[in-house]
Amino acid sequence: MDTLPRPLTALAAPDFAQVLDDLQLPVSQVATSPGEERSAPALLLGAPASSGSKLGRQVAELAAANLAPTGTLLLFLEGRRSQRELAAWRNGLWPLWHVSVIYTLSTAGTTRQTLAGSERLEGQAPKAHRVHSGSLFVARHRVHAMGPDVTREKFDANASGWNGDPGGPGYPHFRWMRRFVACFAPIAPGARLLDFGCGAGWCGIEAAKRYSAASLRFFDPSPEMVRIATSNAAAAGIEDALGRTGFGEAPPLPAADEEPFDAVISSGVVSFAPDPEAWLAGLAPCVARGGQLVIGDIMRESQGFGRRRREKPLLPARELNAASPADLRQGLEGLGFEHQKTAGYQLTRPFPEAMHLSETHLKGLLTYPLLWCNQIGAATGAVLGVPPLTRFDSWVMSFRRRD
Ligand SMILES: C[S@@+](CC[C@H](N)C(=O)[O-])C[C@H]1O[C@@H](n2cnc3c(N)ncnc32)[C@H](O)[C@@H]1O
Repeated sequence: MDTLPRPLTALAAPDFAQVLDDLQLPVSQVATSPGEERSAPALLLGAPASSGSKLGRQVAELAAANLAPTGTLLLFLEGRRSQRELAAWRNGLWPLWHVSVIYTLSTAGTTRQTLAGSERLEGQAPKAHRVHSGSLFVARHRVHAMGPDVTREKFDANASGWNGDPGGPGYPHFRWMRRFVACFAPIAPGARLLDFGCGAGWCGIEAAKRYSAASLRFFDPSPEMVRIATSNAAAAGIEDALGRTGFGEAPPLPAADEEPFDAVISSGVVSFAPDPEAWLAGLAPCVARGGQLVIGDIMRESQGFGRRRREKPLLPARELNAASPADLRQGLEGLGFEHQKTAGYQLTRPFPEAMHLSETHLKGLLTYPLLWCNQIGAATGAVLGVPPLTRFDSWVMSFRRRD
């Protein structure tokens, strides 16, 4: 780093010792000023209270040029900032950097905020907070934050959460979403079916049962997900079912001596791929010529997700990373797929909020009426194009691979 662009400021790492301690980052590993080594494990930069979020892009590029690929960017935004302003800074750092933690520093103490919630750090506020009150972003390279090790570890840890909670108020909605994708396009009876990024396996299981598939294969990066999907397929009575561990960019199926699959389903996966092109290149050869592909994911352009990006400083990386269905369609067409149909499903704001209220406070009272709205909305959207795709939080498309 040769010079710090104005109005960025160099800070003293020891002033942030409490936070660095919480991050288990030794002060000696934190670069703070121009001219320090170009592959530092961490870089601390300050933006004064007067600075606006337009600087975000500049900070992102500066940090990317100066930090090791696994490095941590610590960006201190001095002063009180609104949630919207913090969200705008986060948007400026993306897509180079993903913010996963925000510390709020004040004379009253220090709070750590992650997607899991907020926690106050133990101990009194350091004296330095009298000078440095504000928000400190902790960010990592997007590609690293979404890398294979992080993905595997995250989904292994949360695998049971992705299996749904039978009997819980959210379960009908959970299963409805999987069923919607699984049944979106008919699969020829007796097909060999692959679930690409299977999670707990429900999309593949629903499709295999509904369309009488001859066999079900599935894979996921998370060994725990594969274990749960295997157990779910057995419990669902699918006789020829087999799972493997692996990533879509280098799929472990079909095996070397196997033909590509007659039908492939992938639901809610591509938004986790740091490079969607590499992911699509892994997907395409898994589908036999003349075979069927059903792919679905979250709709980044929906009104609800747009609002979240404007208002929430912390968001899951996949929400920021999700590609548009139009871009993915273009990518697949370039790989020899013929588009059949597209639909939106899951109506956007205020439906997810209403569903949440129903599940958390109303013992599921509104769940079925809301699912009914979703069903009607998706059906009219698919047939008439009304409501438009941006009125949904998810999309699904079907394709045929050309002969
Ligand atoms: C949101 S869950 C969806 C699971 C399942 N398809 C469903 O609809 O319930 C996303 C899944 O994608 C997997 N995944 C993440 N990155 C992946 C990648 N690059 N290739 C294949 N699967 C991936 C995760 O391990 C996780 O199980």
